[in-house]
Amino acid sequence: MCGIVGIIGTQAVAPRLIDGLKRLEYRGYDSAGLATLDGGAIARRRAKGKIAVLEERVRAEPVGGTTGIGHTRWATHGVPNEINAHPHANARVAVVHNGIIENFQALREELLAQGHSFASDTDTEVVVHLISQIIADGVDPIEATRRALARLEGAFALGILLQERPDVLIAARQGSPLAIGHGDGEMYLGSDALALAPMTRRITYLEDGDWAVLTTGGATIRDLDDRLVTRPEHLTSLSGAMIGKGGHRHFMAKEIFEQPQVIGDTLNAMFNPAERTITLPDLPFDLGAVPRITMIACGTASLAGLVGKYWIERFAGVAVDWDLASEFRYRAPVMAEGGLAVFISQSGETADTLAALRYCKQQGQHCLAIVNAPESSIAREADAVLPTLAGPEIGVASTKAFTTQLVVLACLAIALGRARGTMDRETEARLSGTLTEVPSRAAEVLNHDGRIKALAEETITPARDVLYLGRGTSYPLALEGALKLKEISYIHAEGYAAGEMKHGPIALIDDSVPVVVIAPSDDLFDKTASNVQEVVARGGKAVVFSDAAGVARLKDLALEAIALPAVDPFVAPILYAIPVQLLAYHTAVDKGTDVDQPRNLAKAVTVE
Ligand code: AGP
Repeated sequence: MCGIVGIIGTQAVAPRLIDGLKRLEYRGYDSAGLATLDGGAIARRRAKGKIAVLEERVRAEPVGGTTGIGHTRWATHGVPNEINAHPHANARVAVVHNGIIENFQALREELLAQGHSFASDTDTEVVVHLISQIIADGVDPIEATRRALARLEGAFALGILLQERPDVLIAARQGSPLAIGHGDGEMYLGSDALALAPMTRRITYLEDGDWAVLTTGGATIRDLDDRLVTRPEHLTSLSGAMIGKGGHRHFMAKEIFEQPQVIGDTLNAMFNPAERTITLPDLPFDLGAVPRITMIACGTASLAGLVGKYWIERFAGVAVDWDLASEFRYRAPVMAEGGLAVFISQSGETADTLAALRYCKQQGQHCLAIVNAPESSIAREADAVLPTLAGPEIGVASTKAFTTQLVVLACLAIALGRARGTMDRETEARLSGTLTEVPSRAAEVLNHDGRIKALAEETITPARDVLYLGRGTSYPLALEGALKLKEISYIHAEGYAAGEMKHGPIALIDDSVPVVVIAPSDDLFDKTASNVQEVVARGGKAVVFSDAAGVARLKDLALEAIALPAVDPFVAPILYAIPVQLLAYHTAVDKGTDVDQPRNLAKAVTVE
């Protein structure tokens, strides 16, 4: 996905566009650019690479103007280079775009036949030529823009400059998020409130099908049938302060070390210490009556959902279907009448998860969102929201969002058990009590940072392939550990159910393949211990995360066995996420990859 920012005002706009783009860089960072209306003409600066490269370009070749648009890119069509960097423009129109225009080929051919020539390989450039063609046909530039927007299919958030109308800035939203910011004699547009926070906290979110004409005096929002619409103005909670690294070398490290705090913050929003009960926000449906639950998400969020499935089925006795959003929405799932669909998303903007939510709404499901962005599209379209209180997560690899998602899911499982009569007061008090121990235990785990760093450098960095094993709720943790390692160190890794080893993956085992085993002392420990035996018997290097009792039994077998604080098996997945995060982090640092902005990735995938 990409980041968009725009300003129509009375001051020099280029420096503020750059600042806004820096706050959006986590959304994509393979190239960037800006365009302004400077002296009545469209002026453009673009650069391959990070925002800093663009900033240098603008410093070397300044650009004036008080109205402009900016873009930071995660390439969907066309390789990441300057030619394909946004804004795309001709003398009349400049456009920045987040999303995918699905009918761009047909439009491109139509425009080529009308004599237009294309400079880039992007889908976005068709918008420039389509608007220009309609203007050339004698239509007013703003009406020409509306007509062009009505011909686009797919997902798009757009910022548009019109050379003949320097007094306006146009925004349009279909599927990809776009916000308008209200200033004093200025107006703004941005992919999210974070980009606009230094300029304003007064935010209006466009809905699908909206397009807006911004002037220095305000915004007029219409639907594509040109009917005026009104959208509420919010006061965002996001601050203007640039999110810092808190003295850490990377955002990811800061966010790993914030976990004791944010796990506690998230739990405290639902835990009643006097009663030792869990109280969820009021929900517009009865948890005791839902016949079936569907858990849907992508990536790390989906793995939190898989842990949630295990918890809810065990403690609430209701069937939970789990699926990846990108699979779910295309397999025509059979859904129970009046069922509950749970959508987990850090960004609240993941396209596949949002599309799955819309499918479930059509299917009459109760839709519950667990998000870290309460103003996001998924949050706004769900029937109810259980927020994670992780704070902004800038590192592309999700860490504190994952553990706070688990906290919310654990509370949901307890609330479901109580509502369905499968959990008595004593059990609720016991389980919620174990949750209250997690922040301090997590802080203890972080004390192993140095040892895990050494383990990463000595054992994981040299590896070409790494296996992660776990059983029960440690199985999703194995998947998560492998994902973390893959996405930031670029080492191939696979998470596997430990019981599946004998059905194929054991053939991979030799002394070049580290096997990371997640094995808290629970009712499956003995079976996992047998799997460690099988690995070691074949020359595999086992790295075990357990507790003191488990380490005592495995330390002579394993290459390395690290004892985490003993916790109730219920909360083990939350705690054991931290060492696998640290293992991936230190491996990536040791390998010299871009930890916070790994290659090919973006923080929120707002395209399919
Ligand atoms: C996690 O480390 C990844 N960056 C990625 O898998 C992420 O979890 C996934 O894209 C879902 O994002 P969301 O939580 O914002 O929906």
